[in-house]
Amino acid sequence: MALQGEKTRQWYQKALQVMPYGVSSNFRYWGEQDTLVIQRGEGAYLWDMDDKRYIDYRLGFGPVILGHADSRVNQAVAEAIQGGTLFAWTTPAEIQLAEQIRKMTGIDQVRLTNSGTEATMQALRLARAYTNREKFIKFEGHYHGSADYFLFSTASATKNMLGSLRAPIHAPMSSGIPKYLNEYVVILHFNDVEMLEKTLRSRWGEIAAVIVEPVMGNVGGILPQPDFLQSVRRLCDQYDVVLIFDEVKTGFRIAKGGAQEYFKVQADLVTYAKAMGNGYPIAAVGGKETIMRWAAPGEVSVSGTYNGNLVGVAASLATLQILDTEPVFTTLYQRGQALQEGIKDILADHGIAHVITGLPPMFSIYLGSDREPLNFRDYLKGDSALYSRIAMEMVKRGAMPDIDGREPWFLCAALSEGDVQETLNIFNDAVKAAKT
Ligand SMILES: Cc1ncc(COP(=O)(O)O)c(C=O)c1O
Repeated sequence: MALQGEKTRQWYQKALQVMPYGVSSNFRYWGEQDTLVIQRGEGAYLWDMDDKRYIDYRLGFGPVILGHADSRVNQAVAEAIQGGTLFAWTTPAEIQLAEQIRKMTGIDQVRLTNSGTEATMQALRLARAYTNREKFIKFEGHYHGSADYFLFSTASATKNMLGSLRAPIHAPMSSGIPKYLNEYVVILHFNDVEMLEKTLRSRWGEIAAVIVEPVMGNVGGILPQPDFLQSVRRLCDQYDVVLIFDEVKTGFRIAKGGAQEYFKVQADLVTYAKAMGNGYPIAAVGGKETIMRWAAPGEVSVSGTYNGNLVGVAASLATLQILDTEPVFTTLYQRGQALQEGIKDILADHGIAHVITGLPPMFSIYLGSDREPLNFRDYLKGDSALYSRIAMEMVKRGAMPDIDGREPWFLCAALSEGDVQETLNIFNDAVKAAKT
């Protein structure tokens, strides 16, 4: 049975005429009959063009941390835009937002951008300028946005593209990326301190930065092993390499201060996006003043026409103030834990080997083994086909995680205990249906 009802199908046919594959971003395409057109969202729910309601665990791929159409955030934006949105000058709201980010994360300084990709691009440029080196280390399966430099060995790679463990091949995620760019990227394995140490010892003079998703938010929420991030910090200090935490997914989602707070490791540069705006477009690159001050006019370009526009700024200020003062994280952890426990029980009842990875506000279900995956290659050994079948059966029944198991389930504060129970009932039915 196709996901598209009649009206949704008609709208999707229109979309196909004017947008490649009927979508504005490749990750949204689920196929000719299963790509949805959504009319609106409210709280934890979405409705498609046929008025079918879904409990939403994609949340726009993570941003919507409070819930869709949060009235407090919308109100703040509505009020702010009465006085205009973009002046090519600094505004008081922008300063307040930078102060709020500093208060919650402990970073010294910040520049606002509009998307995660812009933030990671600027972070890499700053690190290169600061060290006067050109190469950087990234980990297999980590995604840092759609800039050319980062699109090697991302979560979209398949097993046979990756080469051997000791000599990973740089697998481009896309056509259209100049081949020579891979010479600037050194690919290593997440949770492998030994390989990182060896690489930094032999090549530190070439390497500007290590960029890492502290939790693998694009591959099943794989967690850092105890002390892994601390070791990365120690090695970056030892070899004078800039440590960049890409907190586009973890920032303001796993704790008020993101992964830096949760794992008690301070990076040199950090990127934020998604949860900081509850769905409005806003992002940031920030970090230590010693590096951020290199963003000097005429020296290192960290710029953008829409940086600091008041739509994103007002939304972010309202969102962060709510996250800072209300017990949102308590709710997210409680609901996430209840879901995880229920999912584990159901999978055990059905005799399916599994591990729940990630953290309650952002977790994944790894099937086919009860050994925790530690890196991208481990993840690829799991039964992702079974997961996708279960997820698709869930979506048909009105609860919507992504059907790609690499993408975590995201939770919002509007998710009620009743929604959790409804989701678990749906999950149980979906497992039954997917097994037959
Ligand atoms: C960890 C991480 N970094 C960067 C990005 C890019 O962000 P954007 O899609 O806003 O450009 C993403 C997007 O999913 C991400 O997950």
